[in-house]
Amino acid sequence: MSKENSPYQVSILMGSDSDLEVMRACQDTLKDFGVVSDMKVLSAHRTPEALAEYLKEAEKQGVQVFVAAAGMAAHLAGAVSSKTVKPVIGVPLDASSLGGLDALLSTVQMPAGIPVATVAIGKAGAKNAAFLAVQILGLSDPVLAQKLVDQRKKNAAALLAKNDNL
Ligand code: RP5
Repeated sequence: MSKENSPYQVSILMGSDSDLEVMRACQDTLKDFGVVSDMKVLSAHRTPEALAEYLKEAEKQGVQVFVAAAGMAAHLAGAVSSKTVKPVIGVPLDASSLGGLDALLSTVQMPAGIPVATVAIGKAGAKNAAFLAVQILGLSDPVLAQKLVDQRKKNAAALLAKNDNL
């Protein structure tokens, strides 16, 4: 199936529905760029078989990028990366008394050959996962790449305009 006909280009996975509020920021950012995503709660630890089945189906559907978010001992992104050669972006979440540092280290410290592109802990990371996914899609989609350039220009102008009110 070609990329253009794919029902979704990005798959957003999270370990629990308790991650949903933060990960909406990723979904919403993708929507702003007109990128269709699929979103699922699947856990590396609690539902490993269902995760493996989903990944097979997502590959068949033509997904281009996976975003995987989890808190605590966050192995979801690594587990996804072990099953695909598509880019995997990991979002560590703050879900324990360790403030997300546990999830950051679990997500980022992957062995050579099975990478996870790890973004910041929490909502900033969730948004950046979407931006990074759009940048990856933009490598073969000039319209998306131009939208990114336009948005950066707009954001820069908005920031500089704040100087008028100091
Ligand atoms: C992780 O454990 C999930 O990604 C979540 O961030 C954390 C806590 O999950 P719940 O106990 O709230 O379901 O697997």
